[in-house]
Amino acid sequence: MVRSTADLRRTFFEYFQQHQHQLVPSSSLVPHDDPTLLFTNAGMNQFKDVFLGAEQRSYTRAVSSQRCVRAGGKHNDLENVGYTARHHTFFEMLGNFSFGDYFKEEAIKFAWQFLTGELGLEKDKLLVTVYHEDDEAFDIWEQKIGIPAERIIRIATSDNFWSMGDTGPCGPCSEIFYDHGEHIWGGPPGSAEEDGDRFIEIWNLVFMQFNRQQNGDMLPLPKPSIDTGMGLERISAILQNVHSNYEIDLFQSLIASAAKIVGTEDLEDKSLRVIADHIRSCSFLICDGVMPSNEGRGYVLRRIIRRAVRHGYKLGANDIFFYKLVNTLVDEMGEAYPELKQQQAVVEKVLKTEEEQFSKTLARGMLILNDALSELSGKQVPGELVFKLYDTYGFPADLTNDVAREQGLTIDEEGFEAAMAQQKSQSQSASKFGADYANVLSVEHKTEFTGYSEVSGMSTVVDIIVDNKAVGEASDEALLLLEKTPFYAESGGQTGDTGLISSSTGKATVVDTVKLGSAFAHRVKIEGLIKVGDKVELLIDGERRDRIKANHSATHLLHAALRKLLGDHVTQKGSLVDAEKLRFDFSHFESISAKQLIEIENLVNAEIRSNNALSTQLMDLDEAKASGAMALFGEKYDEKVRVVKMGEFSTELCGGTHVARTGDIGLLKITSEGGIASGVRRIEATTGQIAQDFVNDESNKLHAVASLLKSDKSSVVDKVSSALQHVKQLEKELAQLKQSMAGQKSKDIMSNVIDVQGVKLLVANMQGVEAKALRGIMDDLKNQLQSGVIALGLASDGKVNLIAGVTKDLVGKFKAGELVNHMAGQVGGKGGGRPDMAQAGGTQPENLEQALDSVKSWLESSM
Ligand code: ALA
Repeated sequence: MVRSTADLRRTFFEYFQQHQHQLVPSSSLVPHDDPTLLFTNAGMNQFKDVFLGAEQRSYTRAVSSQRCVRAGGKHNDLENVGYTARHHTFFEMLGNFSFGDYFKEEAIKFAWQFLTGELGLEKDKLLVTVYHEDDEAFDIWEQKIGIPAERIIRIATSDNFWSMGDTGPCGPCSEIFYDHGEHIWGGPPGSAEEDGDRFIEIWNLVFMQFNRQQNGDMLPLPKPSIDTGMGLERISAILQNVHSNYEIDLFQSLIASAAKIVGTEDLEDKSLRVIADHIRSCSFLICDGVMPSNEGRGYVLRRIIRRAVRHGYKLGANDIFFYKLVNTLVDEMGEAYPELKQQQAVVEKVLKTEEEQFSKTLARGMLILNDALSELSGKQVPGELVFKLYDTYGFPADLTNDVAREQGLTIDEEGFEAAMAQQKSQSQSASKFGADYANVLSVEHKTEFTGYSEVSGMSTVVDIIVDNKAVGEASDEALLLLEKTPFYAESGGQTGDTGLISSSTGKATVVDTVKLGSAFAHRVKIEGLIKVGDKVELLIDGERRDRIKANHSATHLLHAALRKLLGDHVTQKGSLVDAEKLRFDFSHFESISAKQLIEIENLVNAEIRSNNALSTQLMDLDEAKASGAMALFGEKYDEKVRVVKMGEFSTELCGGTHVARTGDIGLLKITSEGGIASGVRRIEATTGQIAQDFVNDESNKLHAVASLLKSDKSSVVDKVSSALQHVKQLEKELAQLKQSMAGQKSKDIMSNVIDVQGVKLLVANMQGVEAKALRGIMDDLKNQLQSGVIALGLASDGKVNLIAGVTKDLVGKFKAGELVNHMAGQVGGKGGGRPDMAQAGGTQPENLEQALDSVKSWLESSM
């Protein structure tokens, strides 16, 4: 019986629910609290602690269909997608689980009954493997199920001993294989031909018995348990009588839709398979909160998106296309995964933005790559080129590899890594002060920080560093290390404290405090002398510290407000807190409207006015996370962490210094907002008196504008807009006026015409007329004069404009070009043009009159 993939998923749930299994929804692709995993890659991931006995649930049997990604990290199938019938970046794993409830015999019986009973698979087409030492499983298959011994294969390798990772739950397993038939090449598991496609593993039954330790020891689990996994796409392929996973209904629909969108008819094209596979992993990753970026999970996502886009481009897509497939995916999988449906708009937006950004460089990068490939001697693409494509055109190395592979080439991965490492070391050597010191100095000392509760105190100098060397005393610039200190050393985005350190013999002004390992180093300028061993008195600049505290606490409120108003995809990408301002970078994929900014500001200010007391508490990391504290992804935290809580509004892991109550922040004012990288935005803001000053300053400017307009603030907008309208009207009138003045002028100056030996001559100073109107006026005057010579000039802005004209009948006798040059020579200029009209400029307005006066004698001498 042929079933749809959706049917099959449902049938699996129903079968196990009938056998008292609790239906548990798929967990996120981002493993919760498990640093050993990049992405969820098996159904049992979410039950790890239940197997280990560390977590209790209200049920002992479970069934699920788990979304899994195997791209990046330990299990990486990305590069095989499109080339084989069964590799995917994303797939669904159907599984039934027993937590200390049933064990081997029931697990085997359930699986057999489901496959041969519910699904009606032919028994003769199935064969099984067991771990070579597992006689118990062998006997169950042979005696209880009735499989002939020759179709039960003992396997000695790790293939039949499944473990989640290097540590954690594990145990022997038994796999069920399906024989696709003699017409397909391949041999049974364990044979030399096992890699062929004839015998395909469909279900893995793991008999969970041990907890593997770091040192390799196998401790028994509290109770033997069951974990199984069956690839939904594989079993669908069998039931739909097709050999390749890509031929099942779900993929066919994605492929058909992709073909339509990119405009191709060849449904067999492997690029369509790649796109159909990738839209699933990309959509679900975004749905689970991963955003394209240049590191970690975000970079895996970016690589998959870009690979898909490149394949679309190859198929002839000529517009942004990838996001358009989300609709079809939601049609196919939205019922089973309601979260996908809910997040559809976000998923589409993120994919669209990423593709738009990449498409700008894709064509250019492809051109460069194809050029290089056509000239390549040998079979390997140089690492330098792979790096250049990565660095300049956003081609992840596996994308370049994908293109190379299509042409039977490989890439020089080592060369690529080397080029990458070189760039990294270059950008690191340009790093700032604190890091430089940390590189050259290894400081053993661990400073005790007293500054959460104190701003002054006594301490002892334990080390003095001058020019990167430890010294016994100093009298100028130095780094001072103390036993304990209230000075906060720059970290977590919060700037270091400044203040005063004094001993009986010297006074040190602290200009900054930085961390050297676990030691706090005070960067000082000393007057007098300070020695190692000196008792010193410490006082930080408390007023400055107060402003820093307010900015830091406000950053937490801002972070929480952004998540509340924009969504949980907002995560911190960078933060800087000093005495003047706070700067917060965060992931968000679209611009923020002025209205949203006001909402954000209002929400933070409402929290400030609530005046909640801050609490800080030292907790175990696990405990802190369980309490919902926001931790930064990828950040390494100590076992014990400090949790900073502001009412119910914000809870974050943070080592910084904070206000006592949110009201101490006074006021938050956002001063700027904008995008700084793809999907990353930056908000800058101020607090307290500085925010108040900012607001006052804006208000004063408004006041000044209002008084210039002889208005008050409330009507200033109307006033400005009507003033602008008025200006427009005036400009229009002025232009009209100038035109009519020019017309009038040409009439008036006709009275200047004189007769020079029978030739009419008109010379005039056109002061007040726009220089660019001169040509039109000249045409006009020529028409009126009908026959004659005309010379006009005007001076404005320290420049002279001259124009000479000769009517047609006289061009044989007088040249306008000569006349204009005759005048121009007298005003420091030069000109040119046609015999009937020529123009020139000059730089000596004071000589304009004289030049005009000289025209008459020029005319006489030219006769
Ligand atoms: N956890 C087992 C697997 O992934 C079922 O194969």
